[in-house]
Amino acid sequence: MIEHDVLIIGGGLTGSRAALAIAQNYPDQSVGLISKVHPIRSHSVAAQGGIAASLRNVGDDDWLTHAFDTVKGSDYLADQNAVQVLTQSAPEVIIDLEHLGVLFSRSEDGRIAQRAFGGHTNSRACYAADKTGHAILHELVMNVRRLGCKIYHEWYVLDLIYEDGANGKEVKGVVAYSLETSEIEVFCAKSVLCATGGYGRVFNTTSNDLASTGDGLCLTANIGLPLQDMEFVQFHPTGLYPAGVLISEAVRGEGAYLLNDLGDRFMANYPISKNRMELSPRDITSRNIAHEIMAGRGINGGNYVYLDVRHLGREKILSRIPFAREEGLRLAGVDCIDQPLPVRPTAHYSMGGIPTNIDCQVIGSDSQAIARFFAAGECACLSVHGANRLGANSLLECVVFGKRAGEKIGAYVSDRPMPKINPDHYLAAAKAKLKALLSKQGNSRIADIRQQLQDTMTEHCGIFRDDQRLKDGLAKLQTIRDRYDHDLLIDDRSDLFNMELMQAIELGNLFTVGEIIMTSALSRQESRGAHSREDYPQRDDLNCLKHTLGYLESGKVRTSDRPVDMSLQSIDRDRFTPQERKY
Ligand code: FUM
Repeated sequence: MIEHDVLIIGGGLTGSRAALAIAQNYPDQSVGLISKVHPIRSHSVAAQGGIAASLRNVGDDDWLTHAFDTVKGSDYLADQNAVQVLTQSAPEVIIDLEHLGVLFSRSEDGRIAQRAFGGHTNSRACYAADKTGHAILHELVMNVRRLGCKIYHEWYVLDLIYEDGANGKEVKGVVAYSLETSEIEVFCAKSVLCATGGYGRVFNTTSNDLASTGDGLCLTANIGLPLQDMEFVQFHPTGLYPAGVLISEAVRGEGAYLLNDLGDRFMANYPISKNRMELSPRDITSRNIAHEIMAGRGINGGNYVYLDVRHLGREKILSRIPFAREEGLRLAGVDCIDQPLPVRPTAHYSMGGIPTNIDCQVIGSDSQAIARFFAAGECACLSVHGANRLGANSLLECVVFGKRAGEKIGAYVSDRPMPKINPDHYLAAAKAKLKALLSKQGNSRIADIRQQLQDTMTEHCGIFRDDQRLKDGLAKLQTIRDRYDHDLLIDDRSDLFNMELMQAIELGNLFTVGEIIMTSALSRQESRGAHSREDYPQRDDLNCLKHTLGYLESGKVRTSDRPVDMSLQSIDRDRFTPQERKY
């Protein structure tokens, strides 16, 4: 059995920032960081357009305006106490990053450059061209290594150890296996932080990498804890067609146009987006694109529209959005200097996740903290994004709450003993689980089942939803899951990097996450933010201004809810009470 004071699952921006905070503030504590990929291959590396902060480098700005934009963007579902922490801490964490060595792009006077992003009143997205996640993650991981955290890369966590402790149930560690050697280990810790990112791979078109399979969410659901607001899935407006990879919002921030087949800048034709045009929030922009496509005004009547940057000119394209150009060239054969890019919405981000309080402690259905268990970043739901996240607030959340989680956990474990675990039972159970999977000799390949699952989620729980489509989708998921349970074929028997085995486990996680998303979507009978019900087209603050909780109970998903925290200490309280969302 391996012991650490703190165990962090996930090596992306949140996990690395948390590890760094512990190493800086509590150098005597031992930190183990487990990641199924090498940390610098975590999905955070793909984040592009920027990280929001009211630095005031371009015009006036302040944290309260940032907070208001975030709450309004969330369609008033965000917990306002958490939004306050996010936006108030933003300038300070950017300066921290700069001191760690992150190379932000600069304005002509040498200050950190900031660009416009959808739904933000002011230009507040700090960036490193359109490779911002890459620039930040590399510095964080280098610093984590420099300060001596132990990194277990290519280790996959199979289960959380959740059992009785001194004062009720607590998370005491994890069971993980090495992808390199297939060795299984029990890791015991005074505290566990889940920072495993999102689940984009549950949909068939996504900007997310192959590793975004909702593992931490599923680990949490498997021990009977709720997941919050899982119905809120963000579809980023501009996935490159047909690949689905991200063409950054930075491209619109720099002035790109969205055009339909008639050559119209169609955002002007919708009352809700006619003022902010291409810089409307993502839920609105994605719906408008979907409407254009459904109305036959996609390019040549097809499933995409154009993102046009030709008017920006070669020099600006190459200096501000070089990666978008590279992607267009490499994946669609389109050089955006001369031709418009084909785009359509792509599953991008999970507003929901493991519910936590503002100190990143995981909370149960009664809102009480679960002992020794923390979560932060995309896998968590604080909730700072409510029903719709604003662009550039995700990297911010990772850094603000990664740092905060590290500081809180460091203090939390300081006077806590190592929990007691008997590893034998967990080792035996994990071995049996892997053996059972490896003995699957049915007729259905992982790729085939996964495709069916992803198509079902996209068709039945995409941008537009309704009761019948969701119910049909859940029934289909059940049928596909039966194939997974009873007809799976696994060929690979090797002990070295058995990716088929890992993908089989990930596929099981995608089913769990998919069922919770659909069931939560069925239970929310209103339209709010990214959750658009054609049978309930209005927002319903009277009955639905609350967070959804979705649990696994005897293999079925059950839902309940909990209140939204409206306790932001604003100067002008009226600005933060729910209003009609107009831009
Ligand atoms: O479009 C983008 O660059 C994505 C940014 C984000 O999701 O915050």
